[in-house]
Amino acid sequence: MQIKLKMKMYIFVRKLVLNYLKYLNSFNLFDRIRLSLIHQFYSKYHPLDIYTKTKGSSKRNVIDRYESIRGNLMGKNCLDIGCQSGYFSLRMASDGYLVTGLDSDEVILDKANLMKKKHAIKNVSFANFKVNLESVSSLPVFDNIIYLSIHHHMIKIYGFEAASEILKVLCQRTKYHMFFDFPYPDAYKDNELFSDIPDMGDNPDEWIKNYLVTSGFKKVVSLNIFSHNLRPEEKRNLFMAIK
Ligand SMILES: C[S@@+](CC[C@H](N)C(=O)[O-])C[C@H]1O[C@@H](n2cnc3c(N)ncnc32)[C@H](O)[C@@H]1O
Repeated sequence: MQIKLKMKMYIFVRKLVLNYLKYLNSFNLFDRIRLSLIHQFYSKYHPLDIYTKTKGSSKRNVIDRYESIRGNLMGKNCLDIGCQSGYFSLRMASDGYLVTGLDSDEVILDKANLMKKKHAIKNVSFANFKVNLESVSSLPVFDNIIYLSIHHHMIKIYGFEAASEILKVLCQRTKYHMFFDFPYPDAYKDNELFSDIPDMGDNPDEWIKNYLVTSGFKKVVSLNIFSHNLRPEEKRNLFMAIK
């Protein structure tokens, strides 16, 4: 009789534990609160929902940028460098690609992982990885590399020469396409932090195309020029660099 009672107790506790583990793995109330706090008080750069098409919910125009990229993805896998809270990574994963998102900001990666849980997307992994000249060479080759709105930060941190070397290594790690954008000179001309960016002359678009070609790409095409959601005058040309 005592054994039967013990057995019943064991089954009851086991069920309780399993349900608790299931709850922890689901997008639960605590996750919801954490995600909303990070979004409200840390970064709204990417929206809280990857399928709702409200542009006002993010700073950068991620929705239209992804629509331009989507039809140009090749092969089976994608690397998203400086993935932020994962909008592009999650969209590509939900379109069936195996995706790796890298960022060096722990809090923003927490948001990315919560977004992954919220949308129940499995084929994406986010890792804390600081891109520099040394670390970049450890990356394997990917079919597609998303390298958006980050290269000017590389120049700011490492200087133009080192950042250009990083871009060359990323080109070697690209099997088919790299997606790349860069601010126009007007956006940073009074900012000391960007003083290492060379003069782009009269035609910044041509300058960027040549820069990508000298980094090792065969051909570069413009997909579209997009505005910032909060500052419509701040535009960026989205390029596809082809190997
Ligand atoms: C301006 S956001 C761009 C986000 C996203 N690529 C987009 O276009 O929407 C730049 C991101 O790059 C990350 N980042 C900056 N320097 C980095 C580095 N050296 N290694 C990895 N991530 C970096 C930042 O934490 C930030 O999330």
